[in-house]
Amino acid sequence: MQIGSDAAALRAQVAEWRRNAERIGFVPTMGNLHGGHLTLIDEARRRSDRVVASIFVNPTQFAPGEDYQSYPRTWTADCEALRAHETDWLFAPDVGTIYPDGPGLRTRVEVPELNDILCGASRPGHFTGVATVVTKLLNIVQPDLAVFGLKDYQQYRVICRLVDDLSLPVEIVGGAVARESDGLAMSSRNAYLQPAERQRAPVLYRTLCALADRLQAGETDFERLLADGRARIHEAGLTVDYLEIRRAEDLAPAGPHDREWVIPVAAYLGRARLIDNVRVTRPSSG
Ligand code: PAF
Repeated sequence: MQIGSDAAALRAQVAEWRRNAERIGFVPTMGNLHGGHLTLIDEARRRSDRVVASIFVNPTQFAPGEDYQSYPRTWTADCEALRAHETDWLFAPDVGTIYPDGPGLRTRVEVPELNDILCGASRPGHFTGVATVVTKLLNIVQPDLAVFGLKDYQQYRVICRLVDDLSLPVEIVGGAVARESDGLAMSSRNAYLQPAERQRAPVLYRTLCALADRLQAGETDFERLLADGRARIHEAGLTVDYLEIRRAEDLAPAGPHDREWVIPVAAYLGRARLIDNVRVTRPSSG
């Protein structure tokens, strides 16, 4: 595995691979890699001849007071894991490479309809930071495809939209949510949970599954479903940020005739803010 922080060297390598008709897959990360990230690397590997990963803790997607400084950085273990999963090139730029004039964002990429809802409402500026850095990374790497985890479902939708709207020549692939054996979605922020909190955390996925079952059984009283779900999460001692039922394709408010819904949730537990979601296909009406 080649490791570099130089965008020009990476581009030259990617251009050479492309001249050899090799397909290039890309997995951007902020490091602190866990099993979820590694399934994304494996997905990129299955679909491409060469895999590029990046590790960049992007300052512009952290709201003031969030955990940018303390975000877990586990460089040596990350390199080992990427090597074991046959990554060809690890791009690890410093802040000055990505933001030569500082992270003030003179030029921004914003997806207005998705920017301020759900996670965007609690994390002002977060999706502008994500959309801008992902656009820059895609332009630097110039992959044929890029894989993003579906755990961050709103992020995935933001990226699909910006790629469509800006006509970026890249295929966006959603990687399935990787879960611990008790259902908790894998996340770097799970490390913030104390043992007793860790035991309570799977209530999120259990609640999502229960709501999905009821939707699939034909219930359409969304408000009642959500009230039950919020109560269940609250009883387990978590503080619900949001629990919603939305149209899966664009996160607009759900209607009973949508083809597919997503149930996204965010909740606070100790130091951690946990997110998860499940998607539900509308049952066919008889
Ligand atoms: O999902 C992440 O880890 C980050 O938001 C991403 C896509 C690497 C952009 O910094």
